[in-house]
Amino acid sequence: MQVKVVMIGGSGFIGKHTAKFMSGNDLCVYDLVPPEFESEYVQGNVLDEKRLEKCVDGSDAVIFLASLISVPRSFDTVAEYMNVNACGAASLVEAIKNASKRPKRVILSSSAAVYGEGAYVCDVHGKVYPLPRSQDQLNKGSWEPRCPYCGREVKPLPQAENDELKPLSPYALTKQVQEWLITAMAPRLGYSAVVLRYFNVYGPGQRPDSPYSGVITRFISQAMQGRRLQVFEDGLQTRDYIYADDVGAANARALELEESATINVGTGIRTTVLQLAKLIAGRHGVDVAVGGYRQGDIRHSVASVEVMRTRLGWQPRTALEDGIAATESWMNESAHLKSESTP
Ligand SMILES: NC(=O)c1ccc[n+]([C@@H]2O[C@H](COP(=O)([O-])OP(=O)(O)OC[C@H]3O[C@@H](n4cnc5c(N)ncnc54)[C@H](O)[C@@H]3O)[C@@H](O)[C@H]2O)c1
Ligand SMILES: [Zn+2]
Repeated sequence: MQVKVVMIGGSGFIGKHTAKFMSGNDLCVYDLVPPEFESEYVQGNVLDEKRLEKCVDGSDAVIFLASLISVPRSFDTVAEYMNVNACGAASLVEAIKNASKRPKRVILSSSAAVYGEGAYVCDVHGKVYPLPRSQDQLNKGSWEPRCPYCGREVKPLPQAENDELKPLSPYALTKQVQEWLITAMAPRLGYSAVVLRYFNVYGPGQRPDSPYSGVITRFISQAMQGRRLQVFEDGLQTRDYIYADDVGAANARALELEESATINVGTGIRTTVLQLAKLIAGRHGVDVAVGGYRQGDIRHSVASVEVMRTRLGWQPRTALEDGIAATESWMNESAHLKSESTP
């Protein structure tokens, strides 16, 4: 059935990949900048409640993607992050409240960042939530998180939707606020709220030269320049890398959910940063170096994918090697285009 979908913040990286899965729908993008794909488009700021109301009025579903997305930047411009991300979600709620025909579904792009370091297992204390690692601990090269009660090293658990949320950055806190607002207002305003917590998204269209970019595009870009890849800590920290097309497909799938739900969107596969670096370095014949650390980084993150499988009835398709190859082709092509357009 054709449905009218408004994608707020749809001109960005994930919007572009989501649009590929919207061909049967009547799509409208609301964003500060126009999309690079064919779509109805309304230019507007997410904070402009009136304009947003006009756009969402009469739609069937809203996919909410508009956010500022850099964790490090969010520490420097806290008020701006709170304003755009948290007030942006509030503005959407107001727009829906005032619309004469309200959408029946809101899909929110949240983030694994809401979990912070997440839950671990201590041999003595069972499931625990370690504190962020101290500078002293990191200086000693003692990388694994420790039990907050007895100080023993603990083992990571997959991050599950009903875990406690421990956001560690202003960005992560704004995603938690978005989740809370969109979910709590759902029964009052008569829509179902589908909160999707994306893990580490990568793929074509993610700019390698911006502070917002993920580690995969950064590594590929460095390897393409023949540079050595620098991996922090001992390289054995883990992440869950999910290809952008798979995230787009998950957004499309969420349009079919009738009831509210909070769902991780990840692969459930742990990859060490060292494995990732070696995979990319091997394709270009460059070296990998290990060492140093960044205060505030978490040690381990992988999605529990049970809820995704059962509620969404879906799982990602793209193997990391294939996703990296596709991202590399795109970066080669765009480097080629750039050099052609430079006189
Ligand atoms: N990329 C990732 O790895 C990742 C991971 C987890 C969650 N997310 C979430 O996914 C969503 C989309 O991320 P992305 O990677 O596509 O980011 P992006 O920066 O490429 O896209 C965001 C879009 O929002 C628009 N936007 C920003 N401020 C706006 C405003 N005030 N009014 C209207 N539009 C505005 C931008 O113009 C841009 O087109 C974000 O909510 C982000 O928090 C992304
Ligand atoms: Zn313990």
